[in-house]
Amino acid sequence: MKNIFILHGPPGAGKGTVGERLSKNLNIPLISTGDLLRENVKEKTELGLKAKKYMDKGELVPDKIVISILLDRLSKDDCKNGFILDGFPRNISQAKNLEKYIKNEKVKVVYLEANDDFLVNRLSNRRICENCGAIYHLINIPPKVPGICDKCGGKLIQREDDKEEVIRNRLAVYHKLTSPLLDYYKKKGVLFGVRGDGELEDTVKQIIEISKL
Ligand code: AP5
Ligand code: MG
Repeated sequence: MKNIFILHGPPGAGKGTVGERLSKNLNIPLISTGDLLRENVKEKTELGLKAKKYMDKGELVPDKIVISILLDRLSKDDCKNGFILDGFPRNISQAKNLEKYIKNEKVKVVYLEANDDFLVNRLSNRRICENCGAIYHLINIPPKVPGICDKCGGKLIQREDDKEEVIRNRLAVYHKLTSPLLDYYKKKGVLFGVRGDGELEDTVKQIIEISKL
């Protein structure tokens, strides 16, 4: 049986940070649709150029684009024992497409909870590596050398969509279009709530316990 996790949560809740730790611990890949889209934007693919218009405003990229890049990634060999999804699904239609693909496999949905003002503040201190995408926080998870990625030596930058007005729109889009998934998964009995604003170690430990259930 596959080990399939969905990390659900508003922008900045820690999906990427927690997901990376979990991926190492459970030995299954972390698949972030945001990262896949950003790679396409960086490489200026046709798909990336289309997606960028939405991402810069903090709007959802159309389902057709996102579903096609996700299913392409899930077809790779490293997903055969399971995977962790970060940032997908983001609406009910995406959830149904995922179900069609994974058929009867069980999923666990982990909801990382945190409030909007906390998240706006946290995201203003986020930096990512422009080369490998590693995630840092200037106060909580700083790099060893300021401005330089510990992992690959790349330059740390602020994400284009981490301007306050765009963050506020991403949060509004989350509440309107993505948060209805909470009810959807709760009714299926597969939703687990965890604090996204606590100590990272505690959060990771709690999710590892959930993975054993
Ligand atoms: P995406 O990249 O998924 O962005 P998001 O959902 O807004 O989430 P973030 O990546 O901002 O936050 P996160 O939860 O990963 O937090 P992180 O771990 O970095 O999507 C970007 C855009 O792509 C969307 O707006 C949309 O346009 C498009 N898109 C993507 N998927 C799509 C889809 N399925 N459908 C349509 N469009 C889609 O943590 C944040 C900060 O906090 C970091 O600095 C981190 O170091 C720090 N931190 C995290 N956890 C802790 C902790 N426990 N303690 C201390 N610090 C912590
Ligand atoms: Mg992320």
